[in-house]
Amino acid sequence: MPHPYVLLSAAVSLDGYLDDTGPERLLLSGPADFDRVDEVRASVDAILVGAGTIRADNPRLLVNSPERRAARLAGGQTEYPLKVAVSGSGDLDPAARFWHTGGEKVLYTTDEGAGRAHALGLAADVVPLGAGLDWRRLLEHLYAERGVRRLMVEGGGTIHTQLLTEGLADELQLVLAPLFVGDPRAPRLFGPGSYQGGRLRLVESRPVGDVVLMRYEPTAPGAGPLPSAADHHWLALACELAAECPPSETAFSVGAVVVAADGTELARGHSREGADPVVHAEEAALAKADPTDPRLATATVYSSLEPCAHRASRPAPCARLVLDAGVRRVVTAWREPDTFVAGADGTGVLTGEGATVVVLPEHEDRAKAPNGHLLGR
Ligand SMILES: NC(=O)c1ccc[n+]([C@@H]2O[C@H](COP(=O)([O-])OP(=O)(O)OC[C@H]3O[C@@H](n4cnc5c(N)ncnc54)[C@H](OP(=O)(O)O)[C@@H]3O)[C@@H](O)[C@H]2O)c1
Repeated sequence: MPHPYVLLSAAVSLDGYLDDTGPERLLLSGPADFDRVDEVRASVDAILVGAGTIRADNPRLLVNSPERRAARLAGGQTEYPLKVAVSGSGDLDPAARFWHTGGEKVLYTTDEGAGRAHALGLAADVVPLGAGLDWRRLLEHLYAERGVRRLMVEGGGTIHTQLLTEGLADELQLVLAPLFVGDPRAPRLFGPGSYQGGRLRLVESRPVGDVVLMRYEPTAPGAGPLPSAADHHWLALACELAAECPPSETAFSVGAVVVAADGTELARGHSREGADPVVHAEEAALAKADPTDPRLATATVYSSLEPCAHRASRPAPCARLVLDAGVRRVVTAWREPDTFVAGADGTGVLTGEGATVVVLPEHEDRAKAPNGHLLGR
């Protein structure tokens, strides 16, 4: 089930705190950054916060610029993004500004919390998600039932920590403010947890007034059948590589990337690259990886098209090459059609030997684009 694109947004002090312990919200950003945040809010379908932030800050979470609100309306969107609150207990102040400003509101909670929220008369659509709160179910519900494609998460630290450690964040927009808090009782941005092992990708950094904005993308593949946000980023890269293939009337154009469990790229390739007119993408990529690299055993191969199961031009098909390399997880955008080989089933070859194959159909159109002439398009 598809999820919205999840953008985490936060400002921290130089010593890594989200707030101080005083009764008023600590203003970490300056005017220029508040305006940038307003612009980001105007660009999303929904803004999510945790119950702790509603209790501590009593925020409105509005798009403040009339011009940006007008542009949303002119573009066929609602004036304000949907406001989303998350609470296990359902124990929230019904008079909080969150419920009485802006557009529609929804509260995701537990079955027990829903009872409390109804009793309190919270002015929101209350959605119970069962005995506990499952983030994947919440994101699927936002996508399918509320039409949310871009979700901005504005804290607090408990929420950010969970979305990042569960591999569900597509992007982190972090602002570093030039001040210290220095109080160990103050809330930190990220708590303890199982974060990805390797490095995140820095996609942008720039000063905004006296703060610095840093945008990062998590890079770690998902585990087993559960896709992570980074799986989508890597598969999108494989689709970009597919578009670089020399054209052919007799073979598909495919891109492939091999990524270690900590998010380190080990190798990439595409069909017919270099001087080899018949090389396949997975074959080209795996040939560049060190076959003795122990990281291959927990790596993921991203291939814009399912690895092949039968092949005339080489002794071993790509599904076999993947297995022989020790890789046990493949993420792909579409299954091989009967264009050249009837009943090709690379997925069957892979799963038959214990590998996991994850198909992310959201990328199918991009993976097919360089192959349109072979598909009668
Ligand atoms: N600097 C910034 O950019 C920024 C932005 C936002 C917030 N903040 C600061 O962050 C602080 C609040 O952060 P916080 O970590 O205390 O709170 P939070 O992340 O806003 O909310 C935590 C609450 O959300 C609910 N929740 C989260 N995950 C859940 C799960 N898996 N299952 C059930 N319920 C879940 C729980 O609500 P219940 O307790 O109702 O069960 C939990 O107490 C405040 O000091 C605020 O000022 C700073």
